[in-house]
Amino acid sequence: MGTIFEQVRSGGCLSYLIGCDETRVAIVVDPELDQTDRYLALLSERGLRLRYAMDTHTHADHFTATRALAAQLGVPVVMSRKSPAPFADLRVEDGETLIVGNLRLGVMETPGHTEDSLSLLVGDRVLTGDALLIGGTGRTDLPTGNPEALYDSLFGKLLRLDDSLLVFPAHDYKGRGQTTLGAEKQTNPRLQQKDREGFVALMRGLDLAMPQHLTEALRTNRTGGMTVKQMIAEAGRQVSFMALPEALQRVRSRDTSLLLLDVRDKESYLNGHLPGARSLPRGELELRANADLPDPTVRILTYCKLGKISTLAAATLKAMGYTRVVALDGGIDAWTQAGYPIESGQG
Ligand SMILES: [Fe+2]
Repeated sequence: MGTIFEQVRSGGCLSYLIGCDETRVAIVVDPELDQTDRYLALLSERGLRLRYAMDTHTHADHFTATRALAAQLGVPVVMSRKSPAPFADLRVEDGETLIVGNLRLGVMETPGHTEDSLSLLVGDRVLTGDALLIGGTGRTDLPTGNPEALYDSLFGKLLRLDDSLLVFPAHDYKGRGQTTLGAEKQTNPRLQQKDREGFVALMRGLDLAMPQHLTEALRTNRTGGMTVKQMIAEAGRQVSFMALPEALQRVRSRDTSLLLLDVRDKESYLNGHLPGARSLPRGELELRANADLPDPTVRILTYCKLGKISTLAAATLKAMGYTRVVALDGGIDAWTQAGYPIESGQG
């Protein structure tokens, strides 16, 4: 039986593309949002058609791409029956099998890191999510984490499997990609604590820093909402941009056909703005557009501090019918750093 097995690393996050050689279908496990195009490229490069997009659990430290892949490719999102995500289409339970072409993938519920944690048995290997890591285990101090449950999942389930099984975790921060169950049993420091109470005390005693983006990751991964980066990227696909030097030229030549629109708050505008710019804070855009921008055919250049909010503002104006709006590629911070001229006070 031919199995295609690709590990995709994104920082400390590990995700997997598993395909059936004969039937050319595949499943992607724990895909990360920033790598969405990479999975799509891998699928087409390998001549594979995606069947399932799966998360081993609700991630608190990065953004899942399952929903984006599912929407683009029309495949179900697979998660645990215990997952809070409303976008999970196929909710699996312990002992079930996922069929991917000629491959049979065994689902195991391995809660502890989160309540909805799954492991996936694939032939000679097991994807352990964040239940068992290389030389460690998933933490149990984040929402729905439970050290007692993790002990039971490890000692009562995973460690009872064959020692020769290859282990592929969802994270490794030291550049390692795989281990074996036997090696972990012998050397993983946390697994040396074989007594349940001792293990629980060890897990409770860990004083770990909160992961970056915790709130946003839990918000979007649990609800299917968008990340701020996704919103800005989506707005960015709807508008075109103007480079800083091009904008400078137009400022210098006093090009009156281009309306410079400062969408920051009024106070920032008064402290310093592009010469000739007008102030229309983004929060007042819809309210003041009719009075301030009566001509929908006027050419508008929006800018803000960093170039992100101005992208959102440009997309909003475009949606309102301002057909010739562009956003500055960069913000007034980059403009100032480049030594370009600034004007202060009322424009
Ligand atoms: Fe996790």
